[in-house]
Formats: sequence, structure tokens, C-alpha cells
Amino acid sequence: MALAPRAVSVRGLRIGTGWVLFAYIATHLANHALGLFGLEAMEAGRALFLALWRSVFGVAALYGALSVHLGLALYAIYERRHLRMPLADVAQLALGLAIPVLLVAHIVGTHFASSAYGVTDSYTRMLIGFSSRPDAAIRQALLLVIAWSHGCIGVHFWLRTRPWYRTAAPLLSGLALLIPLLALLGFLEAMRDIAELARRPGWVRLALAQANEVGSEPRRALAMLSDGVLAAYAAAVGLTLAARRLRNLHERRFNSITVSYPGGRKVTAPRGYSILETSRFAGIAHASVCGGRGRCSTCRVRVGRGLDQLPAASEAERAVLERIGAPADVRLACQLRPGCDLSVVPLLPADAAVDETAPPQEGFAGQELEVCVMFADLRAFTRFSERKLPYDIVYFLNRYFESMSEAIGRAGGIANQFTGDGVMALFGVNSGVAQGCRDALEAAAAMSRALVALSAEFAGELETPLRMGIGLHAGWAVVGEMGPDADKYLTAVGDTVHVASRLQDLTRRYECPLIVSQSVASHARLDVGRFVRREISVRNRDDAVAIYVFDGAERLAFSGA
Ligand code: FES
Repeated sequence: MALAPRAVSVRGLRIGTGWVLFAYIATHLANHALGLFGLEAMEAGRALFLALWRSVFGVAALYGALSVHLGLALYAIYERRHLRMPLADVAQLALGLAIPVLLVAHIVGTHFASSAYGVTDSYTRMLIGFSSRPDAAIRQALLLVIAWSHGCIGVHFWLRTRPWYRTAAPLLSGLALLIPLLALLGFLEAMRDIAELARRPGWVRLALAQANEVGSEPRRALAMLSDGVLAAYAAAVGLTLAARRLRNLHERRFNSITVSYPGGRKVTAPRGYSILETSRFAGIAHASVCGGRGRCSTCRVRVGRGLDQLPAASEAERAVLERIGAPADVRLACQLRPGCDLSVVPLLPADAAVDETAPPQEGFAGQELEVCVMFADLRAFTRFSERKLPYDIVYFLNRYFESMSEAIGRAGGIANQFTGDGVMALFGVNSGVAQGCRDALEAAAAMSRALVALSAEFAGELETPLRMGIGLHAGWAVVGEMGPDADKYLTAVGDTVHVASRLQDLTRRYECPLIVSQSVASHARLDVGRFVRREISVRNRDDAVAIYVFDGAERLAFSGA
């Protein structure tokens, strides 16, 4: 629990300081862009820029944000148990680390030279310097592009889980390209102005004198200062990496835990790794839309063994889990750092997209939605369990539930109830009923395949291969978080649920693995041409239900979107 406030404030600080720096870069680029209207416009813009960023408030905000942001970046590097991460994260980190290297000389040569020697760090003075040192001009342009790109990636990570972001993304991407482009063009245009002015005899000398340009001695002092700051920065990065290395060595040597994944894969990882880091460490693809920042929920896993020994979720993690109506055994892989062996099932496919980060819908205290409901049940499990020790039964059931919930999760469903040897799942809560029906049929096929794999795994203990019956029905249902306060989970009630359950029961009578209602077949555009349409009556329901009986879910064909 002590971690909760820290987690919230670290994230808040990183975002807050990031925004201050982003605002600084954006206004700086806008000032450069004024060069398109001439050097004078650029200088006039600079006066406004300095009024904001060289005021007491501006200096405190800028340098405070810079120090805190950099400190947090080093802390984040230290916290990472390994540096295997998605490309966008690598780019974000590498660009971020490159900024101080390019920035220090610029700050020392402008703001510090101005404060220490009374130099007027005008555009005119800077551009005169750049015209004789093109390498410095290129470094400066590079700095702006790198800082801007770093900021844009950060903003993208921050916004990408917002529902409106997809609509706004083209406009924002356009601005992200346009702003630095205009700045570079303004910069080049102003350089042309300087080249023109420099043709006038004595103009450069006069301009530099008016800017109080310093001589060689102060310049050497500024260069030494710049080198000193860079050396301190390099030392801070080096120390951070060394501290990480030592911590990792210690953890690997004295502490390791085993994480079991679906399919029997076991990964031994140092204690202290998050589950997401463990997956990446072992090369297991794992969804993480927000890059492990604890915001998107796509990394969520269902925890089996070890659940009762896990550290409590931080406030930030709990808030995300509550937002998606996660049951008590679901945790965020990027936030969970287990201290014991455990088994996990990632609940979303590794390529889960932003859509899957959203809470199912607003108002999940209860809402009528058109969804597809699945009920699945193991056949002859009672007979199997009669001949087994309780421990074996629990082990087998956990494996079974792991496999089924993985298949359901990967297909986009929400496995929300496990009772006895039965599973209930909802599809289409986020994506709509048509997609939900297709997802449910895909899940049924994946579950059949998973059952074959389970049969092979338990072949020595089974008289016959495992079989299951699945019933699918689509329609309106009241969907909401139900259960006691501390243990709410997303489920559905109503006639649709009742019918789906009944169809699953009927798979026994028809001795088949799958029964699908007409409603599911229509929504999914399932090709049912060669199957017999039957009508059945359902208890407590006036209308008959049209169904199709299938002898397998693996090869069902769709007739097009
Ligand atoms: S990766 Fe986004 S919450 Fe874990």
C-alpha cells in the first residue's frame, strides 16, 4: 500500500514536467518559424519568448521540469530489469538521452552567457555564429528535431488510450510534422537574411559588438563549463547503468521466481521483474499498448497459482482494473512484480490494439447491450474427478480454465464465470454484436484446439480424450459489474444468457461439440447452407429458438463481412 501514492505521483510528475518541456519546445519552434517573415519578426517573437521563459516563473518551471524529467528518466532506466522493449520505447529512451548531450552547449552559450557576461543571445548573434560554423547549425537543428520527436512520442503514449485520439490522430500527426518543418524553413530563411546582411562592410562586427559578444577567454570558460556539465551527465547515466547491473546481478544470484504461462511454458526470472518484463525477457509476445505505463490494461493477466501471495495492487493499478471491471484474479502484467512462483494467462492477444484498452462501456453499473454469450462445459468430468485426488482435480481444472480463458481472451472475449467445469464468456461488449459473434466462433474453434492439446497433456490419466459442449446465442442482455463490492466482475443476465446456457445443455442431447443460434449465425454471416436449421423451445420462453448443430468449430466458414 505504501507504494500507491508514489506510483501516482511519479507518473504525474513525469507527465507534468514533460508538458512544461513540450510547451517550451513548441514555443521555441514557433519562434523559429517566424523567420519565414524575416529576421526582425524572429527577434520580435524572441522578445515574447524570453518574457515568458526568462521570467522568474519561466526559469523555475523550465529548469525545474528539465531536472525532474531527467531524474525520472534515469530512475526509470534503473527500475527496468532489462532493456528489451518495443521499438517506440527504445526510440523514446534514446532520443531522450541524446537531448542533454546536444542541449548543454546551447544553454551555456545562450542563457548562461547572457546571465554571466551580459551577452545578448539574439537570433542575429546566434545565426552569425552558425554561418561560420555549419556543424553547430546542424547540431542545433538536430537538437530541435530530437527534442520535438521525443515530446511527440511522449504525447502519443499519453493520449493513445483516449477514445477520441484515433479521430484526432491524423490532425495531430500533421501538426507534429508541420511545426518543425516550418521552424526549419524559418531558420533557413533567417540564415539567408544574415548572409545578405553580412555582405555589408562592417555589419557583422557591429552586430556582434551590439550583442556584447565575448572574447576568447570567456568563451573558453563557457566551453569548460559545458564540458563539465556533460561529464556530470555522462557520469549520472553511467552510475545509473552500473547500479542497475549490480542490482540485477544480485537479484539473479539470490532471488528468482518461476512464472508459468499457458501451454506449460515456464520462465525463471529474477525476483523484482514485472510479469511484462518477464514475458519480454523470455521472448514471449505480450500486449502492452501503453508501453508498460499502467494505463491501457492490455497487458492484463489472469493469475492462477500464487494469487494469494501477491502484493496488493497499487492505487493506480486498482483504478485501471476497476475501470475495466476486472475480477479479483486479474492483474496488470506491467505493474505486478511477484515475489513468489505463479501461473498467469495473458488475457488479450499480443497484438491487442488501443480499442481493447477502453473500459467496456460507460455506466457498467448496468446497461442493456446486444452481445454474444457463450457457455462451455466439459463432458464426463464428474466421472474423471471421482477417480482423482482433490489436488489433481484442482490442478487439472486450473489448467483447463487457463487454456479456455486464454482462447477466449485471444479471440476478444471476456471469460467472466468459471463454475465447476463450466465457463461463461461475453463477446462483443466493446466491439459490437456482429464482431462479437465472429469472435465467439473463433474462440470456440480455439477452445476445441486447446482441448485437444490438454488431452495430449493428460493422456496418461484420461480414459478417452476430453470433450466439451459449447452453446452460443446473441441478443440483448443486461451487462454490468455484479457481485459483492470487493469482488465485482462483469457479467450479463437476461433471456440471452438463459438461451445460451440452454444451448450448451442441448449439446449433450445432440452429442455434438457446438450449437449456435440462428441469431449468432446471422450476425457472424456464418455459411450455414449445408446445415439443418432446427427449432427448439426453451423453458420460460414463448418463442422458439432457431439453432444449428455443428460437429466441430474448427472449419466453420463465413460468407463475408
Ligand atoms: S501495458 Fe498498458 S497497462 Fe500494462
